[in-house]
Amino acid sequence: MNDTITSSSASSAPSRVTLHLGHLPSKKDIKAPWPRTPTRVDPNNPPWPAYRGYHEYSFAHATMQSRLPTILGKAIEDATRTLNNQSPEEEVIDLVQCIERMGELMTDLSGNAKLRPIVDDNEADVALWNKEIAKYFQGKDFMNAPWLFAEAYKYRRLHECFSVSKFWRNYDVFYRQKNDTFSRSSDAVFELSMRFAEPFKIAEELSRAEKLEAERLMFLELTQVCLWGNSTDLSLLINMTEDQIKSLQSTGGDHLAATEKNILGNDLTRLWETVKELREKTGGRIDFVLDNAGFELYCDCVYADFLLQSGLATQIRFHGKRFPWFVSDVTKKDWEWLLNTLVYGQLFPNATDVELESLRRLGRRWKQYEKEGKWVYEQHPFWCTGYTFWDLHSEAPDLFLHLSRSDLVIFKGDLNHRKLTYDCAAPASTPFEVAIGPMASAAGAPKVATLRTIKSDVVVGLGPDGDRIAENLDQTEAGWKISGKYAVVLLSEGRPGEKVRFA
Ligand code: F6P
Ligand code: MG
Repeated sequence: MNDTITSSSASSAPSRVTLHLGHLPSKKDIKAPWPRTPTRVDPNNPPWPAYRGYHEYSFAHATMQSRLPTILGKAIEDATRTLNNQSPEEEVIDLVQCIERMGELMTDLSGNAKLRPIVDDNEADVALWNKEIAKYFQGKDFMNAPWLFAEAYKYRRLHECFSVSKFWRNYDVFYRQKNDTFSRSSDAVFELSMRFAEPFKIAEELSRAEKLEAERLMFLELTQVCLWGNSTDLSLLINMTEDQIKSLQSTGGDHLAATEKNILGNDLTRLWETVKELREKTGGRIDFVLDNAGFELYCDCVYADFLLQSGLATQIRFHGKRFPWFVSDVTKKDWEWLLNTLVYGQLFPNATDVELESLRRLGRRWKQYEKEGKWVYEQHPFWCTGYTFWDLHSEAPDLFLHLSRSDLVIFKGDLNHRKLTYDCAAPASTPFEVAIGPMASAAGAPKVATLRTIKSDVVVGLGPDGDRIAENLDQTEAGWKISGKYAVVLLSEGRPGEKVRFA
């Protein structure tokens, strides 16, 4: 009897229990607090919302969807062009296999495949890549992983196409392009070389205060040359009229003021105070975390030359990439190419003898700096990983310690800025020191400067009124974040002098 009751009441019971909560308060629209608390931040969960390829409103989408496949297509064309000029069969077959691997990468990229581990090609960064993929990106694909990681991963996979080969390990599919761009920048190149071929001199008859003022103006102008060298159209230098150039030469006033208006977050004056202080302590070490080869690198070198000559720095360390990266970034080969082409090259058939001599003088002086150890070129594997610089102290402690001994670390360009700021949707009013996290707050963090023309979504450091400035631009100037027309020059105080501690 009991059995019957039990089974009939069991069969009439609902298969799924649904509670009606009509008498409870309604759900509230609670916003998640940003930034995320530091312990919850990881490469898949930046402090503010990440940009991902499927976010159609962001530059991430255009890049992942169309720019990267186009770049890869051009890279395949370049390798094919090289293939057509090869003769030894073994090398030909080896290169054919590299091109096939590029084809597979194209299929993965355009088919939005899942991110697989990097093949062990004996490079120093493999462990870092695969640890990050295993910990944070299992099952993620090109479009739903954060844009920064997915984009960097694509360049690492491109490198892998060659690094597992026998003859083509160091082949650079972007090399031709980088060199061509420099040879097409002749006006701007000579604009600078004709001014700086001779070591600069400040008129003897000036008073101490006047000399300092002349140096200050020169520093501000050259910092801007170095900054705008990162913008692709190079219009700053080559579109100037004779009169504008003269005014730039004499006072720096008008032209500088005009271009300075486009620097939306502007710590130029603090930067000058910083280097001036260095000189008072007999000059310091300044590091450049480089961005692009060719014209931008040339501007960096002109700037670095001035920093040495003026005694503001006694040593400059340049940090480049170990393999081709984001199309135009500097590798050791690009560095050597620039210095040698200045001295021995025949790149500018229409140049005058005087112009060519000005390049040779610059090139010889810069090579001499290298011999004397005043300029040092370095290439740590960390720079070509998918980690942002929030993880520099934990994932590359040796590099962090090395940078912590520098008096000022200047990061060039858009990608370095994205990596400093975790490439996420932080409000434009976010102070730079907050946006770069441990690169400002970790014990031993050096002073960090970013010289960046704005070419992608993340924008910080615009001051307390920054959110309003960014909103206005959003409404009045579509594309202002990717045009390279605007820039930021931001500086963090860091925590130099404090002992570096590692977790
Ligand atoms: O593909 C987009 C991007 O990564 C952006 O950061 C920027 O538009 C470009 O590539 C690289 O710019 P930069 O050479 O200044 O780092
Ligand atoms: Mg670059």
